[in-house]
Amino acid sequence: MTRIAHLSDVHFGAHDPDIVAASVAWMEVHKPDLIIISGDFTQRAKVDQFRQASEYLDRLRSTGCPTLVVPGNHDVPLYDVFRRFAAPLDRYKRFIEDDLCPWFENDEVAVLGLNTARSLTIKDGRISYEQIEMLRDRFAEVPAGKTRILVTHHPLFAMPIAKEGELSEAVGRHRDAIEAVADAGVHLALAGHFHRTYAESALKMVETAHTVLVVQAGTATSTRLRNNELQSFNWIHARRYDEIELQVIAWNGREFQRGSHEKFTHDGNIWTSQSISGPEQ
Ligand SMILES: [Fe+2]
Ligand SMILES: [Fe+2]
Repeated sequence: MTRIAHLSDVHFGAHDPDIVAASVAWMEVHKPDLIIISGDFTQRAKVDQFRQASEYLDRLRSTGCPTLVVPGNHDVPLYDVFRRFAAPLDRYKRFIEDDLCPWFENDEVAVLGLNTARSLTIKDGRISYEQIEMLRDRFAEVPAGKTRILVTHHPLFAMPIAKEGELSEAVGRHRDAIEAVADAGVHLALAGHFHRTYAESALKMVETAHTVLVVQAGTATSTRLRNNELQSFNWIHARRYDEIELQVIAWNGREFQRGSHEKFTHDGNIWTSQSISGPEQ
């Protein structure tokens, strides 16, 4: 079993220092096998914000846990027009991670991160044809029994939003991306951006994507909340490619606390969930 902490939207510059410290403390105690951060490291892509985000990453890495990170739309400068178009992810590469398509693999999981942040779209991301090719190629080499995980900042799949029946925006070229995700046999698609926790079988959203379980993370440390959902991150146990446990670790105003806990199983056709209780790991 591989234990993954999935954090997102840490937004340095609009962060709560107490929550930042508590998240590091959690990782020091629980030592996941992998820490994933799915973008929006900063609030406005400023140097001092990237410095703080970089220090945060250093503290997480000093726990001995490997990390896999991708940028978000807030990591592209918004008002500095020259930088926005000439070197949109320069600071991200300098302070956070040079590799925009990171890869992690152990005996049980294979994880690919793809950058969906673009200069031209203010907040909606996009996936390129080159990235779609890479997605197919990288997973084609992975042995059959491993859990295949894709990480993006923008969700590949539109998801229901607060108003009944309405769907959110999905990443640009999402139809091509979803086809590639299905072809590559991706089991788990992790993303952030909406500052809202959510988990659902992609089959309920897109007919062809039967292998994919979509999991969204809330904001881990930002003070900018949406729908009054408090800060949280996802604690994932990838047991097998057809069995994944997800627990939301939520801030209660004083500390991170274990919240809803579900087991997802795939029967060859669809992911279904059941609430679980039991020993915590
Ligand atoms: Fe965000
Ligand atoms: Fe975002």
